Amino acid sequence: MDNFIFQNPVKVIFGRNQVASISAEIPKNSKVMLTCGGGSIRKNGVYDQVINALDSKPIEFWGIEPNPVFETLMKAVEIARAEKIDFLLAVGGGSVADGTKLISATIPFDGDPWEIVTRKVKPTKAVPFGCVLTLPATGSEMNCGSVITRRETKEKLSFQNPLVFPRFSVLDPTFTYSLPTKQVTNGIIDAFVHVTEQYLTFPAQAQIQDRFSEGILCALIEEGPKTLNNPTDYDSRANLMWAATMALNGLIGCGVPQDWATHMIGHELTAFFGLDHAQTLAVILPSLLWVQRDSKRHKLIQYARRVWNINDGSEAEMIEKAIAKTRTFFESLGLPTRLTALGATEDISDLIVSRFQTRNMLPMGDSKNLSADKIREILMQAQ
Ligand code: NZQ
Ligand code: ZN
Repeated sequence: MDNFIFQNPVKVIFGRNQVASISAEIPKNSKVMLTCGGGSIRKNGVYDQVINALDSKPIEFWGIEPNPVFETLMKAVEIARAEKIDFLLAVGGGSVADGTKLISATIPFDGDPWEIVTRKVKPTKAVPFGCVLTLPATGSEMNCGSVITRRETKEKLSFQNPLVFPRFSVLDPTFTYSLPTKQVTNGIIDAFVHVTEQYLTFPAQAQIQDRFSEGILCALIEEGPKTLNNPTDYDSRANLMWAATMALNGLIGCGVPQDWATHMIGHELTAFFGLDHAQTLAVILPSLLWVQRDSKRHKLIQYARRVWNINDGSEAEMIEKAIAKTRTFFESLGLPTRLTALGATEDISDLIVSRFQTRNMLPMGDSKNLSADKIREILMQAQ
C-alpha cells in the first residue's frame, strides 16, 4: 500500500426529512444563492422543501445543464457577484454540484476562470456551498472534483481543489424516487465504474480498499435491479445513494493505483457526441478491460472470484467471463455497451488521441501502458 493522506471534510446529512435541518448548517445572515438544474426539483417537491427549510428567501439561479456548461456557469457568477452572495446551495444532480463548485471558485477569482478548469491556475479562495443531492451517481456531493463542458470548443475537462468540497451534503433517498429509469441506470453504472477505476488496476496489498470496493460493487449489482423494479423501495434507494457516495469520496482510492482511462475516453465521447456520461462508461469499460486484460490480470481474477463468483476454468477463461458478466450487467440495466447502438458511429479515435497527445496525457492508465494505439483499439472494440 502506498503512503496516503485521507481527509474528507464533508458533513453528510443522510435520510428522510433531513433537509429540514439545513438552515443550521448555513452561517447566520448569509446571502444565499440556490443553484439548480432544469426544473426537476420543482416537479418532485424538493424545491419547496428546501425553501421551507431556509431562514429567508434565497436568490435563485436556474438552468445548469447536464454536463454543466462553462458559459452558463459564468452567468451565475455575474449574478452572484452583483448580489454579493456569500453562500451557495446546489440542489440537484452531479451537474448542479459540479457547476456550483466552479461558480464557488470563480466568484472571488480575478483572472480567466477557464484556467481553473484547465488547471493552469489554482484558485486560493472559494465561496462556501452546501449540496442537496437528487441523483446518486457522481460522488460530487462528497468530493472536491468538478467536470465542466465548454460548448464552444467541445471540451469536457475536470479540476480538483480542496476548497470546493461541499460544507455539507443532504442525501435524502426519497428525493431520488422521481428519477427517470435512465438516470437511475446512469447512476448505478457511473458509481460502478468509479469503483473499477480504483480497483481494477494491479495489486497493492490493500485489503481494506479492495474489500470496500468489492462490497460497493456487490451492493450495486444487488440493489440496482431492485431499485429499478421497485422505485419507491426506500432501503434500495438508500443503499444505492450511499454506495454512489462511497464510490468516489476518496476512501477506496487511498494508497492504491488508479486508472481513470475509461473516464478520460468517455469525457471525449460526451464532448463530441453529447452522450450521457454513464453511456460512455458502459461502452468503454468492457472494451478497455479486454484490451488491458494482461496488465490487469491479477485484479481481474480477484474481481471474477469475489464479485461474480467465477471459480472454474483457466485464468484466461475466468477473466473473459468476468468481462462478459460486466457487459451483461450493464445491458440488463438497459444501457447499450456498443457505440453503434448509441448511434455514435463516426470514427473519432484520431481526434481523441491527438487531444490526449496535446495535453501530454499519454501513455495513460494505472500501468502507464495505454498508448495511442491501444486507445484506438479500445474504441474499435467498442463499436
Ligand atoms: O436538470 P434537472 O431538471 O434537475 O434534471 C436532471 C437532469 O436532466 C435530472 N434529475 C436529477 N435529479 C432528478 C432528476 N430528475 C428527476 N428526479 C430527480 N430527483 O437528471 C438529469 C441528469 O442530471 P445530472 O446532474 O447531469 O446527472 P449526474 O448526477 O449523473 O451528473 C453527471 C455529471 O457529473 C460529472 C459527469 O461528467 C457529468 O458532467 N461527473 C462528476 C464527477 C465528480 N464531480 O466527481 C465524477 C463523475 O465521474 C462525473 O464525471
Ligand atoms: Zn463518472
